Amino acid sequence: MPRELTQNRIQKIWIPSKDDKPAAPRRSGGGPHLANPATVIVMVGLPARGKTYMSKKLTRYLNWIGLPTKVFNVGEYRREAVKHYSFDFFKPDNQDAVKIREQCALDALIDVKTYLTEEGGQIAVFDATNTTRDRRDMILSFGSENGFKMFFVESVCEDPDVIATNIMAVKVSCPDYRDCNKVDAMVDFQKRIECYRVSYEPLDPDQYDRNMSFIKVIDVGRRFLVNRVQDHIQSKIVYYLMNIHVQPRTIYLCRHGESDYNLQGRLGGDSGLSSQGRKFAGTLSKFVEEQNLKDLRVWTSQLRRSIQTAEALGVPYEQWKTLNEIDAGVCEDMTYDEVKERYPDEFALRDQDKFYYRYPTGESYQDLVQRVESVIMELERQENVLVICHQAVMRCLLAYFLDKSADEMPHTLS
Ligand code: F6P
Repeated sequence: MPRELTQNRIQKIWIPSKDDKPAAPRRSGGGPHLANPATVIVMVGLPARGKTYMSKKLTRYLNWIGLPTKVFNVGEYRREAVKHYSFDFFKPDNQDAVKIREQCALDALIDVKTYLTEEGGQIAVFDATNTTRDRRDMILSFGSENGFKMFFVESVCEDPDVIATNIMAVKVSCPDYRDCNKVDAMVDFQKRIECYRVSYEPLDPDQYDRNMSFIKVIDVGRRFLVNRVQDHIQSKIVYYLMNIHVQPRTIYLCRHGESDYNLQGRLGGDSGLSSQGRKFAGTLSKFVEEQNLKDLRVWTSQLRRSIQTAEALGVPYEQWKTLNEIDAGVCEDMTYDEVKERYPDEFALRDQDKFYYRYPTGESYQDLVQRVESVIMELERQENVLVICHQAVMRCLLAYFLDKSADEMPHTLS
């Protein structure tokens, strides 16, 4: 017998009960509604191969698309356990140190389990070198005992310039070298890498690891080897890692100039720029010229106010429909006061939960995140870009770059 359906008032999703609960559990799995078991992403690679950078960036992305994710950095557990050390600590024949390092990995795994089974986590990133088969086999057993899906991300790089740059950029200033000058820190870190190299067993796609799910990121994304992707989450991880790069560049996020509707306090619509807005566009043009950025790409939405702002720059630009402002549905073209008067319940509901609230026949911030994901992916691929967009869209993009939570997102820039 089919059950009665009722519409959830915040998200406007049909649910089979009279309860007015959010269709998605609050702040978890709110993204693509995936019914996946929890996943552990296991980093693999020698020190200074960008594992921590990748772990943090991937975690920010996964959280932004609505999958609660947390990094567990075993180095931090080790620094808690041992306050002072030299590179000898990492020698494979230093039995005492090996025991401490194993214990730190186990402690981190216990926290991974708590996060995924008791704290609402969906994905844990286990950030350590994990360079031996013994260690990886132990992690795999932990995964199967707990019913977690395991995905390995190995970073392989032998370019000495890239490694030296990475050591200089992040390692010499890390807490291990608090009382050390940069040159000594560099030398010590190189020795640490050599300690790991002795026992390093890279993932073997042909034999030993052929049944495991993993991606090998070779030479900072110049090449990839992808093995046995099991599900949607893993394919998203692969897709993301294949799109990011580490070249320095500048991204500008800019709202369009003031529009006629802004002047009247009206939502949405497709009005043109006010005279203030045209002035703003002129000033923006000067600013952009002064930055003198190489090959700057300019992106707009397909709404008039955004395109008019870009026109003032006198440079080529690309229009993206995905950058259009949030669709306020039946409330389009109204002022907030008119919404409050005509739809008092809707007005109050939006106040209750601005991220999940979907306008009748319109969109929510949660919808927007999914809509602009393709923009984020393309921004990751590009170099210098200026995005001329709208208030709600800009909040979504900013939340990704600034690692803002779903709760904070709709209120940034207010
Ligand atoms: O008021 C300008 C505007 O871009 C509207 O078109 C849009 O509905 C609104 O801002 C989004 O901001 P908020 O989510 O705070 O209502």
